[in-house]
Amino acid sequence: MDLEALQFLKSEQAQRFLEEHLESNPEEVARRYKGKNPFLPALATQIRCLQKAKAKLPTYHASRCLLEPLALEQASGEKAAEMKATGYSGERFLELGGGLGVDSLYFAKNFLQNWVVERNNLLVEMGEYNFNKLQKFLKGEVHWWKGEARDFLQLSKGNFDLVYVDPLRRGKEGRKHIHLANCQPNVLDLLPSLWRITQVILVKASPMLDLEWAQRKFQGSLRRICVQSVERECKEVLLELSPKKESQTTVECRFFRNGQIHRYTPLSSPKTIEKWADLKKGWPPSFYAYEADVALYKAKLAKQFLQEKYPHLEGGWTEGPGLFLSPQWEKNFLGRIFEIKEVYPFSPKRLRKQWKGRQFQIWKRYFGIPHLKSSLGVREGGKEHLLFVSTKGKRWVLLAKEITKKAPSNIAEGKTLGAKDGGPGDANLW
Ligand SMILES: C[S@@+](CC[C@H](N)C(=O)[O-])C[C@H]1O[C@@H](n2cnc3c(N)ncnc32)[C@H](O)[C@@H]1O
Repeated sequence: MDLEALQFLKSEQAQRFLEEHLESNPEEVARRYKGKNPFLPALATQIRCLQKAKAKLPTYHASRCLLEPLALEQASGEKAAEMKATGYSGERFLELGGGLGVDSLYFAKNFLQNWVVERNNLLVEMGEYNFNKLQKFLKGEVHWWKGEARDFLQLSKGNFDLVYVDPLRRGKEGRKHIHLANCQPNVLDLLPSLWRITQVILVKASPMLDLEWAQRKFQGSLRRICVQSVERECKEVLLELSPKKESQTTVECRFFRNGQIHRYTPLSSPKTIEKWADLKKGWPPSFYAYEADVALYKAKLAKQFLQEKYPHLEGGWTEGPGLFLSPQWEKNFLGRIFEIKEVYPFSPKRLRKQWKGRQFQIWKRYFGIPHLKSSLGVREGGKEHLLFVSTKGKRWVLLAKEITKKAPSNIAEGKTLGAKDGGPGDANLW
């Protein structure tokens, strides 16, 4: 899209057309009106973008904002933006590399004066137009600034309560970068100029970022690491930096699940008790596997989370830590729960005979064996789950059914399973 097409998209005629065709297939619209308007490709793209934005950016969709495909792909989802802005407030906020301004929109609900710096002219024009429509969601003013982050920092005189950077991770060849030094703007290069204008910098990094690398790289200035996930997908790692020497980095997880935002920070001096599961051949089938949120695994807090939040759960972890196996059912567990139907030693030949051609959902974190589906002759899908786990150096496959938010098949809701109820209940085996 160019600036001329953007001007047209702002017109009443274009807005009316978009409204009328919002639910239509964009390819079909392009075919039907071929040759009738020079900006038809831009209109079709806009319909496609708005349709995609319905789930990712519901406020932008509802306000009929204008969107650009690549910027839409690179933007934070609104849920992630809302979660990360929670807890920050003040007078002046700055985002370097604002894109569609999704993160800025959520920060601007808590700050009075907001600046969004973006080097792409089209996105700045689009941002100014969109934020006019989004005005009712803002607490204060939002100023879009067209140009390079470095130039803004050179010209800027005032102080900011928070500077946020969500650098572009996609390189020219389309590859996604993980290291901050390869992203644009390069926040590592900008740090000296940033410390002149702020005491708090928040950097959004790839969910693949190595957290130990971040701790080493920023040493005393890394105040907090926050891992965020939305509906079991790890979205981002946030690094909060401060110029003061911090004695310790706090690690926090925020996850959006079942329509709610959850936050978890471990106790200040965590003491994790090593509890490892010990599966045995012929193990009674009635036990449960618990999977914590993906953000907790990423932050290496899954074990602590279970220990702190569900201290009553007996059982142990499969290697990794992978899944927590327990003879007890905890219906309020904040994560996924599986009811185990069968336990098999991992023997591909035997299992292939049994399952060839069937469909299963596969869970194999930390199993370390490639091509599981083809060696067992199974396909991804269906309602049954195969959980591939290792305990005490042995590999197992658990045939399971997900019972998150449901009662297990052999138990009435509200009851806890124990030996008396006909479940395994033999805690000594754990
Ligand atoms: C990942 S996007 C930001 C997305 C944004 N947080 C959102 O939620 O919509 C990064 C943006 O930084 C901009 N950018 C990259 N390098 C820049 C620089 N040196 N100065 C200003 N903007 C830059 C890119 O044009 C891109 O729009």
